[in-house]
Amino acid sequence: MREGTATLIRREDYTAPAYWIKTVDLTFDLDPIKTLVINRMQVERNTGVPVQPLKLHGEDIMLTRVLVNNESVSFRHEDGMLVIDNLPEGPFQLEIRNTCCPEKNTQLSGLYTSGGGFFTQCEAEGFRRITYFLDRPDVMAVYTVTLRAAKTQYPVLLSNGNLVEQGDMMAGVYGPRHFAKWHDPFPKPSYLFALVAADLVAREQHIRTRSGKDHLLQVYVRRGDLEKTEHAMNSLIASVVWDEARFKLPLDLERFMIVAVGDFNMGAMENKGLNIFNTKFVLANPATATDVDYAGIESVVGHEYFHNWTGNRITCRDWFQLSLKEGLTVFRDQEFSMDMAGTATARAVKRIEDVRTLRQMQFPEDAGAMAHPVRPDSYVEINNFYTATVYEKGAEVVRMMQTLVGREGFARGITLYFSRFDGQAVTCDDFAQAIADANPQSELAKQLPQFKHWYAQAGTPRVSARGRYDAPSRTYTLGIEQTALPSPGQPVKQAYVIPLAMGLIGRDGQALPLQLEGEAQPVGTERVLVLNEARSFFTFVNLDVEPVPSLLRGFSAPVVLADHLADADLLTLLQHDTDPFNRWEAGQRLALNRLLAAVKDGAPLQLDDAFIDAMRKLLRHPELDAAFKELALTLPSEAYVAEQLNPVDPQRIHQAREAMLLQLAQALRDDWVWAFEAHQVKGGYSPDPVSSGRRALANLALTMLCRDAIARGDVVWPGRAYERFKDAGNMTDRLGALTALTHSHAELAELALQRFHTLFKSEALVIDKWFALQATTPEKDGQVFARAKHLLKHPDFSLKNPNRARSLIAALCMNNPAAFHRSDAAGYVFWADRIIELDGINPQLAARLARVMDRWSKLAEPYRSGAAEALKRVAAKPNLSSDVAEIVHRALQQESQ
Ligand code: BES
Ligand code: ZN
Repeated sequence: MREGTATLIRREDYTAPAYWIKTVDLTFDLDPIKTLVINRMQVERNTGVPVQPLKLHGEDIMLTRVLVNNESVSFRHEDGMLVIDNLPEGPFQLEIRNTCCPEKNTQLSGLYTSGGGFFTQCEAEGFRRITYFLDRPDVMAVYTVTLRAAKTQYPVLLSNGNLVEQGDMMAGVYGPRHFAKWHDPFPKPSYLFALVAADLVAREQHIRTRSGKDHLLQVYVRRGDLEKTEHAMNSLIASVVWDEARFKLPLDLERFMIVAVGDFNMGAMENKGLNIFNTKFVLANPATATDVDYAGIESVVGHEYFHNWTGNRITCRDWFQLSLKEGLTVFRDQEFSMDMAGTATARAVKRIEDVRTLRQMQFPEDAGAMAHPVRPDSYVEINNFYTATVYEKGAEVVRMMQTLVGREGFARGITLYFSRFDGQAVTCDDFAQAIADANPQSELAKQLPQFKHWYAQAGTPRVSARGRYDAPSRTYTLGIEQTALPSPGQPVKQAYVIPLAMGLIGRDGQALPLQLEGEAQPVGTERVLVLNEARSFFTFVNLDVEPVPSLLRGFSAPVVLADHLADADLLTLLQHDTDPFNRWEAGQRLALNRLLAAVKDGAPLQLDDAFIDAMRKLLRHPELDAAFKELALTLPSEAYVAEQLNPVDPQRIHQAREAMLLQLAQALRDDWVWAFEAHQVKGGYSPDPVSSGRRALANLALTMLCRDAIARGDVVWPGRAYERFKDAGNMTDRLGALTALTHSHAELAELALQRFHTLFKSEALVIDKWFALQATTPEKDGQVFARAKHLLKHPDFSLKNPNRARSLIAALCMNNPAAFHRSDAAGYVFWADRIIELDGINPQLAARLARVMDRWSKLAEPYRSGAAEALKRVAAKPNLSSDVAEIVHRALQQESQ
């Protein structure tokens, strides 16, 4: 653990390494208690920097020997590093021997055991927990890896690249042993190293790519899980095909492996040729996985596969450039999922979901204690910077580049990027420059330095637009202002380059031709305005009537837009906008306005007929897709509502939203009945967008019907939900029915929950859902919190398994604001106790869960004081990890702001 070593690392302090490691030959004698690592490196000086000692990273490992050119040398330990002086001028061989203890590695970083096998996780700085090394991404080496282990327990031995040799060894005390030798021809940074030794089986598929080359694809899982790998394999094949078609990026390996592991801190990891996945993003069959799980698998498999080029072939110079690979690869996986979805609405549905994630995760981050630029300037613990800002906002920055240069121009830019930098470790600046250089006439190229403020400035810009129609001149002028609020360490901001996709709509719903002053004729009905000053004006001509502006279509920039539209305008957009994103947004705004009004004046919420009619029209619309309707009829989350308020009273938000849900349930009762019945999916299960959209809408309808029924004391719908729960042919419908019962606090929920547990007690991922569902049930009289506390003692609960820990702790603290933020502060006490406990087991995970307090200083009293006390208690824990310390210290600094 790294307590006490909390130094701040700064981007501006970057210096090239003093040595290069050209090749690494690793031998592992795998043993859960004491694994021996022999590490032979070919090292040479970096002649570009002054002569200095070699300083190697190492953490939680026992050094047994250091040889230079086969001779022992003197060395010392300094600031946790291994320092070797007096090294030869020319290239030399360095051999390190050390041991480590995989079984005690509960942090799940480095080499650890899970389910009786060995697995590694090296990003970002886990390789130093395996052996001494220059554990930084700009040191790239060619690896050869030999694994030795007991044959019966660990029949499968995997590492990066190609298998070059395997065979039996002399039997050890515990029975027969064997070995396997792997060679990866591509130079790679240490964070992409991986090994697996376990009792696994694989689904295999041979494919031939466009170039005519043959490849072997494998998905490794535990015995018994093989029938849950079909979707992951199909997703992998689709990813290979897509990257070649869209970006001309082929699979460059003979063999590409995915391995699933039950204990994993993150979703998945892109190790070269040997991706390691959380089981959650591999295993699926209709009985155990939902539509959402299927979609998640497709996008995560895609994401890790796409890293093979964006991340692995070209990697990051230093960790401040993390968005170079993550933002770009999230953008790529989003595009992949959209292209897979097919139809225009299905694409829009994916876009809406992505924007919802951005607003719910990244906007609060940008406004809280952990606000940082897409390319951060400093960190204490790099693991704390795998954030929504680096990922999701980073993806939006890449998307804006594509908007500014066009889809084809962007693909050209990617091609130039690879021709310039293949095999290198580079920066975000290098990427942006390549995209711009491939499109010299574009707005991006013309305004590149200003565009790059997106990388450097933290915080979400506000864009405020006001339109004025002038009847005599038949013109419409849009005045648009952008402002950027101060964030920690950045008091003053510069104007951004903001692509604003827009259109104008007539009162009858007609899309109007767009002709700017000075233009000879109209240019279509949609265009991208490029804002680059604090204030800009655009005058449209030849308009006979006052239009309704539809701004920021498709969410063309990650900003908060204030368009000052009245309800009547929003209703027009909801009914007629040709841009499905803005259509959805109009509905959300109508709902949000009502929620905010109710929270602010504290009066009981009373829904108006105009809103109810609009929602009914939407639900009954003959042409809109079910998936779209489900999104449009889902109210803004409590977290998103909280984002609009200061101070935040989570209980008032909850009350208002619950009241609104009930009124929508009641007012549209007949419509929900219709929606439920008209959207049943017959026949075999398929996770395609149309069927999953229908299931989503039917499940929403069922939840609404149960809410309404419980309020009326009616038992028919809960009874129907229970029947559906029992008889469901797939997990989406089963969990949907169980959710309807649980969320409406129906009596039958208890029976159903018990039954669900019995049915799936041997399916870890389903038991995670069981915990999460109970922890995310809308709070009622403190029952949900009490139950969550009680579930801590359930025999199936454990803090050691990250999925399980998240299914209860994150679900309650992060996804159930009203159960968590209690006036008696019991939620905060619960949080502090868990963070302190988890910090001793898995600091990385503890730090992620600690982030729920990022926005504590915006809370109303008495929540604010209770939260502060809990934070201070965690901060005072002896031996607190630097991971959690960074998060709580940053949070506490908010107090003075
Ligand atoms: N490189 C990351 C995995 C990672 C993150 C390892 C942080 C170590 C520390 C991987 O490519 C990734 O981004 N995974 C995401 C899922 C993805 C679909 C956004 C994850 O694990 O959450
Ligand atoms: Zn990634």
